[in-house]
Amino acid sequence: MNSIHKAFKIASSEITPPEVYAQRRQWLQLMAGSAAGSLLTAWPEARAAGQAAKLPGAKSAVAGAMVLDKQTSLQDASSYNNYYEFGTDKADPARTAGSLKTQPWRISVEGEVKKPGVFDLDALLKLSPMEERIYRLRCVEGWSMVIPWVGYSLAELITKVEPNSRAKYVEFITLADKKQMPGLDSGVLDWPYIEGLRIDEAMHPLSLLTFGMYGEVLPNQNGAPVRLIVPWKYGFKSAKSIVKIRFVEKQPDSSWMHANRREYGFYSNVNPQVDHPRWSQATERRIGEDGLFTKKRPTLMFNGYEAQVGQLYAGMDLKSNY
Ligand code: MTE
Repeated sequence: MNSIHKAFKIASSEITPPEVYAQRRQWLQLMAGSAAGSLLTAWPEARAAGQAAKLPGAKSAVAGAMVLDKQTSLQDASSYNNYYEFGTDKADPARTAGSLKTQPWRISVEGEVKKPGVFDLDALLKLSPMEERIYRLRCVEGWSMVIPWVGYSLAELITKVEPNSRAKYVEFITLADKKQMPGLDSGVLDWPYIEGLRIDEAMHPLSLLTFGMYGEVLPNQNGAPVRLIVPWKYGFKSAKSIVKIRFVEKQPDSSWMHANRREYGFYSNVNPQVDHPRWSQATERRIGEDGLFTKKRPTLMFNGYEAQVGQLYAGMDLKSNY
């Protein structure tokens, strides 16, 4: 049993069919030795040439990780973005994020852990086999997408650094560099952009440390080289271009909470029954499906992941913990 399976008391034989093991072995072979090296060298050069470097992932066997909804096109998913460090218009990041330098890249892991450390991108890529996970991502603005992400459970990294008993929350701090990010001149949010999770949310196998999408490394505008995807929460919880992960005792404030505490709470779970103060959250528009007569879809509790994550919030008042 690996660490995530232990944490969730699931035997790996129960959840990992043999073909998935085979795909993982293939992936490990690909990443082993020179292949990993050449992927990493190819990454910035391929991007500069307008091509993407491949980043394959074995189909995930984690419960709920492969939704069957029709996928959003890569074109839509990489041209309609929220990444305020590159501008507040949805079209800005695709236009301006070319200036983001994704290598070298390091994530520093600190705070209430027994083994703090600095992981470079190479070490992060090799930490655990890559999986493909088809997740919905819903934005509090009322639109959603379905994207095949590539990465591995954040729990893999967390167990490696051994949080101590004071580690109740995890804070994610992202890059803030004025030289690379034209949006930092605006005071629309506090920089660096910060997000937070409770430790059990961060340890849930669906919380994905994400390096790619559609079998390729992440486009800069989608949060290259490494971001978080928390599929049952509003998209804004899914911090892009992470440089620091800090384990803390007290609930951290996110940039969105600072910007407007009444509208954006710590939990930010997708909950169609709790309206945003200025609009309903009961329905959503699926990007790519918008025609004049297309009806909005009903939004599902926890974005459709209730069976997997509902128990994390048992007994909580989800109206006051929005
Ligand atoms: N991460 C950073 N660093 N800066 C941001 O502005 N925006 C968030 C989230 N992560 C944001 C961020 C919001 S509001 C959304 S909806 C998602 O990223 C969008 O991710 P996508 O562009 O890959 O769809």
